[in-house]
Amino acid sequence: MGKDVIIACDFDSAQKTFDFLDKFTGKKPFVKIGMELFYAEGPSIVREIKKRGHKIFLDLKLHDIPNTVKKSMAVLSRLDVDMTNLHAGGTKRMMEAAIEGLTRPDGTRPILIAVTQLTSTDEESMKKDLLIDQPIDKVVMHYAKNAADAGLDGVVCSPLEAGKVHATCGNNFVTVTPGVRFADGDVGDQKRVMTPAQAKEIGSDYIVVGRPITAAEDPVAAYERCVNEFVG
Ligand code: C5P
Repeated sequence: MGKDVIIACDFDSAQKTFDFLDKFTGKKPFVKIGMELFYAEGPSIVREIKKRGHKIFLDLKLHDIPNTVKKSMAVLSRLDVDMTNLHAGGTKRMMEAAIEGLTRPDGTRPILIAVTQLTSTDEESMKKDLLIDQPIDKVVMHYAKNAADAGLDGVVCSPLEAGKVHATCGNNFVTVTPGVRFADGDVGDQKRVMTPAQAKEIGSDYIVVGRPITAAEDPVAAYERCVNEFVG
């Protein structure tokens, strides 16, 4: 799996997104479109960005009954995204249905990764709200293993978990890691962060970087710095 930097395009309109992407006149970065932008602009935003030559990670985190997820994944596959995701909490059967839906008639399909436990869920809320009485890292690894068994390609995880995920699910199992910051940059609301170079060292396959690039004075330079540190 090729290592790459994915820019989180957390904008609330197509115009702001295009203004940002217009700055990249050379290499077209891999971009992540999340719920905010997708719900604001609909599927046309995916088609437009694809048309401009970018790879797209569509971050909609599906979680529903297997039949609904299967049919929705078929729609996303026809949108020609390169990567998408779901919640592993939807069960193995839901993940298997997702793969079926996502697979095109010619056998190809976008990369499918799972969210294990959201990083906003801590051990206390997992116990109190979800009645899951196990250590959080055990739960994360169990969900990652379920995803691998269901045939998914990888998980979203913190860079700190990437090594353990590879040890549990194999080195070909993809780790996509947010929470990346430059050594001399603002941490913002992220709690556990790593630099692109550290994420590379620990074995992340893709890093998802938002504000260190989107809010930089020179986003193209910040992106290139990220690529140089992470891909080398
Ligand atoms: O701006 P920043 O680099 O913090 O953006 C990180 C991106 O990764 C955001 O789109 C955020 O929603 C996403 N993300 C995250 N932590 C997770 C899962 C996704 O920061 N555990």
